[in-house]
Amino acid sequence: MSGSVISGWGSALPEKVVTNAEFEARLDTSDAWIVERTGIRERRFGGTTSSLAIEAGAAAIEKAGLEPGQIDLLVLSTTTPDKTVPATSSTVHAQLGCSGAAFDLNAACAGYVYALVTADAMLSAGPGFRRALVIGSDTLSTITDMEDRSTAVLFADGAGAVVLEHREEAEPLVLASDLGLDGSLLPILYCEHGGYMKMEGREVFRRAVRATVESADKVLRAAGVSPDEIALFVPHQANLRIIDAMVQRLGLAPERSAIVLDTTGNTSSASVPLALTAAADAGRLAPGDLILFSGFGAGMTWASAVVRWGA
Ligand code: COA
Repeated sequence: MSGSVISGWGSALPEKVVTNAEFEARLDTSDAWIVERTGIRERRFGGTTSSLAIEAGAAAIEKAGLEPGQIDLLVLSTTTPDKTVPATSSTVHAQLGCSGAAFDLNAACAGYVYALVTADAMLSAGPGFRRALVIGSDTLSTITDMEDRSTAVLFADGAGAVVLEHREEAEPLVLASDLGLDGSLLPILYCEHGGYMKMEGREVFRRAVRATVESADKVLRAAGVSPDEIALFVPHQANLRIIDAMVQRLGLAPERSAIVLDTTGNTSSASVPLALTAAADAGRLAPGDLILFSGFGAGMTWASAVVRWGA
């Protein structure tokens, strides 16, 4: 038996807080509409994808009690890279002082769950990699039209990270996973180079609920885990009503959801690790606890995983 454990975690949010009241003052919207339709009350804007990733990554490495040079695999999930070339993970790798390999992964807002599953598989594949830093970092405010009320109130910036360490005596980290995509749904959520996010909100909502519920149900069955055995549900933080619909349809305990979107908005790749980190910092996880991760995003991508918390 061998597997990986999550041995450290960290997060980073820009300093600038933007409340719903600030949008209310500028756009044809209201705090009441935003809270009722999304659950978002405030969000953070600022920083770059690499600077936020470095801050979150450094915090995760420190929490794990490691030096950056002991990290031999860096996977950065992002949909807003600093540059077209090179990958933003190159900047993060250099500035943190990591060893080994680094690459970016883009599966939009499902990206962090894709990255976690990918990194775990690479650690499990053989003697090549021992310690992975898995970061989700995005600066969606840079690709959002701040005059468009239908998207401006939703998207924001942040980063979160975990360290995975391969151990001979550990049980498998990922009990079951499901990564998927329906490319025919590309037109309902996209952003051209140099452009802004375009979204058919109602359709994304409908498809997201359907895809994530099917996918989560699949991994619960594959892992042989019933909904009441899930200690923490960590969904992509896009809309509280999407999360509520999932919780209800999957039969999960509502108080076991990790929610940060009220203060972060939708931070894409960062949303799942931000929610996980907040829950871990609040002492909501004990060794052996089972976590259900869920993500969805442009593409249209989705991802689910049942993971054992080992820290
Ligand atoms: N303030 C006030 N009214 C707004 C608004 C805002 N910020 N944004 C949209 N509206 C309006 C719409 O223009 C529409 O007006 P109309 O009826 O006159 O055309 C009305 O509210 C209802 O729009 P609708 O899109 O049906 O609202 P909704 O209840 O579906 O909520 C979203 C809109 C965007 C919050 C919701 O659809 C959603 O969250 N979808 C998923 C988006 C998502 O998760 N994206 C990220 C994927 S990773």
